[in-house]
Amino acid sequence: MSRHPEIHRVIFDSRQTDVFYTELFYSTIMSLEWLSYLVFYLLSAVFFAFLAYCLYVHHVHRKYDHIPGPPRDSFLLGHASTFTRAMKSDNVIHDLFVQWGEKYGPVYRINIFHQATIAVHCPEATKTILMSPKYLKDPFVYKRLFNLFGKRFLGNGLITAVDHDVWYRQRRIMDPAFSSTYLRSLMGTFNEMSERLMDHLEEIADTKTPAVMHDLVNCVTLDVICKVAFGVDLNFLKQTDSPFQNAVELCLRGMVLDLRDPFFALFPKNWKTVQQIKDAAELLRKTGEKWIQKRKTAIENGEDVPKDILTQILKTAEEEKVNSAKDHEQMLDNFVTFFIAGQETTANQLSFAIMELGRHPEIYKRAKAEVDEILGTKRDISYEDLGKFTYLSQVLKETLRLYPTAPGTNRWLHEDMVINGLKIPGGCSVAFSSYVSQRMDMYFKDPLKFDPERFDVNAPKPYYCYYPFALGPRTCLGQVFSQVMKHTPHKHNCTSLSPSEFLDIQNMQANVCILLDV
Ligand code: HEM
Repeated sequence: MSRHPEIHRVIFDSRQTDVFYTELFYSTIMSLEWLSYLVFYLLSAVFFAFLAYCLYVHHVHRKYDHIPGPPRDSFLLGHASTFTRAMKSDNVIHDLFVQWGEKYGPVYRINIFHQATIAVHCPEATKTILMSPKYLKDPFVYKRLFNLFGKRFLGNGLITAVDHDVWYRQRRIMDPAFSSTYLRSLMGTFNEMSERLMDHLEEIADTKTPAVMHDLVNCVTLDVICKVAFGVDLNFLKQTDSPFQNAVELCLRGMVLDLRDPFFALFPKNWKTVQQIKDAAELLRKTGEKWIQKRKTAIENGEDVPKDILTQILKTAEEEKVNSAKDHEQMLDNFVTFFIAGQETTANQLSFAIMELGRHPEIYKRAKAEVDEILGTKRDISYEDLGKFTYLSQVLKETLRLYPTAPGTNRWLHEDMVINGLKIPGGCSVAFSSYVSQRMDMYFKDPLKFDPERFDVNAPKPYYCYYPFALGPRTCLGQVFSQVMKHTPHKHNCTSLSPSEFLDIQNMQANVCILLDV
């Protein structure tokens, strides 16, 4: 035993500490060495993956660069930054496509990262591709609407189903809810809803305050869809700040943000908006869940239910032997689809029509005279009357020519094809824009002029250059439905307002605001 145990312990401790630190030093060096290998391999992997990706992008460029198109802003981004600039400048992005269509011809190329999209506006190719069931919807575009910022949204519903069989089964079952027999039975509701709009306008007129027509027709179209498609009367005209209406609007906005900027959700400044949009999508689906359950219970209790869209949605489920959660989700997909597809498209068309009627008193007078002649002193429109509004139909068609409210569709070209003398290699998206072809001089003379005469029965029919409801098997299911919905409010707008004297249009692009004297 040492005579100086304290000193001994200190020496022993310091030796132990030395050993400890030496071991720690070597193990750290070893781990650092491993870490550096790991980092090296990871960086190499990233570098080679990036190189491989660049080579792939180069390959795509070589494959499609014989097709004319605007110069790319950058090798990788392609035309993405051009779009971002155009959108930031508050310009209508579709006007850029019109300019490109005029400059580069009926077939031109757009690149974004490794994807090539071929924009086509020549009628023959439009006919060949859109009319054929063999060209499916582009999965890269439509699958992006399956979710909205990670929340299930349109899923595998009618608009977004890409697989032909999945889509066709739904469409076949849904068709009866849009048949003329069924629509005929809805005339009472259509008339009642436009009556409500009229009463509301009268109240506004009494207070001599401006009426924002775009907001009002938004409420009416939403009311109509809720009532005739789902049997629920919510009377949005009387509601202020309705969570359901806000949710529909937010989801529509979210779709545009998500489709136009795939990186939108990555920026912290957008997180609040993204969360609001996700909550809105959730609210729509939860509402669908509630309404579907209510109708199921009514059917089970033997109650008499209308043969509306909701009944057909349930029937789709029945025929598909729906019992799994997956198929239940598909019913909700279609619930959301009908609101998204039907409401804003119709409301915007009505708003644009009202705006153009306000801008053109002579067209307004002629439409009014036609309505007066057909309806006389009648207050309600019958299904038969609808076919007699020849001029009003021309006005509505011309409105959709200048302002197609769902301005295009995409198909996947799975095989090589020659379009307008150019070989288009298969494996790309083909974009058809009704906005572009409907605003081109080569198809419609003086295209920016609002002229319902273009749709006179004796005028030449547009040949595959006018398709606001798309064309072929994937044409709009609600086309006739929306026509009925659009004609009924016009009986009032035309007979009761005097826009030449009282109409004051603010913001010519979209928001129609009128001062009424009913
Ligand atoms: C002015 C009003 C409307 C316009 C301009 C319009 C336009 C369109 C267009 C262009 C498409 C094709 C979309 C694509 O290919 O991506 C479409 C599809 C569709 N629309 Fe409409 N739409 C209108 C009103 C409605 C209404 C009122 C409903 C239902 C209540 C509706 C239900 C649908 C459905 C279910 C589809 C998918 C059809 C399928 O692929 O089988 N639409 N619509």
